[in-house]
Amino acid sequence: MKDFISVNDITKNEFEEILNLAQDIKENPEKYKNKLKDKILAMIFEKPSLRTRVTFEIGMLQLGGEAIYLSPNDIQMGKREPVKDIARNLERWVDGIMIRTFGHEIVLELAEYANIPVINGLSDLLHPCQAMADFMTLKEKKGKLKGLKLAYLGDGNNVAHSLIFAASKCGVNISIATPPGYEPKKEIIEKARENAKDFGNLIEITNDPESAVKDADAVYTDVWASMGQEQEREKRLKIFPPYQVNRKLMSLAKEDAVFMHCLPAHRGEEVTDDVIESHQSVVFDQAENRLHVQKAIMILLMGRE
Ligand code: CP
Ligand code: NVA
Repeated sequence: MKDFISVNDITKNEFEEILNLAQDIKENPEKYKNKLKDKILAMIFEKPSLRTRVTFEIGMLQLGGEAIYLSPNDIQMGKREPVKDIARNLERWVDGIMIRTFGHEIVLELAEYANIPVINGLSDLLHPCQAMADFMTLKEKKGKLKGLKLAYLGDGNNVAHSLIFAASKCGVNISIATPPGYEPKKEIIEKARENAKDFGNLIEITNDPESAVKDADAVYTDVWASMGQEQEREKRLKIFPPYQVNRKLMSLAKEDAVFMHCLPAHRGEEVTDDVIESHQSVVFDQAENRLHVQKAIMILLMGRE
């Protein structure tokens, strides 16, 4: 494991190893305070962020290292100089790179040319660190993963793609309900179904929100228009309302189902205020677990000489 770009790139054992290490880090943070002593992470952000920025930055500090924030104005990815040159500059100075960008091919190119670990902090295609934190949260809340049913409603976007891959690595049944034309990408579904064969778990894609949510252990949603899709927002606001997670839809899930969201949330759009504020909501546990899971990923990638 040189990089962490997609949950699909890691083995089922590595998936479990990351979650177990993250849990130990959460319970015994002191044990890990020098694990990345004097290591430096460059963080490239081409899109805004609260959680990703703060958790990577303090994650590095708490492990004994440091992080450098590079804003869109600093680097101007591919405009001021080519991605491959950025990679071969950064590798001379720092020990790892976290990147949040638009095109997934930019993350892949950076990883190809940089001889140091590259972590995907969100691309238009995937959001792998989020999915790891989400599955850590699910495991904490439900005591296991295998055999659970996770329902995802809304846009078949980067978050949905990474959740599909995560489910396929640990035997969680996942049911995705999107409006027609907004389904997750076919190649992602095919790869995940291939992984899931070992477990025999289901990866279901539907346009029917009620059937997706039926008897689910967790109900997940995300914004209807992601960063970079602002011009589609008005159009999507008209198409997506049947997929809103509200009390009525939650009542079709299991009684003890949790509500999940990667945040930021748009109340009154993909989720109602009463659901996100309810006792079923675990959204801030997910946000907390970003810290622990990313520390685990950084130790595994950057802590080995
Ligand atoms: N969930 C998430 O990645 O949040 P930010 O966009 O604030 O980093
Ligand atoms: N799908 C969202 C996730 C934000 C964390 C986006 O890409 O904007």
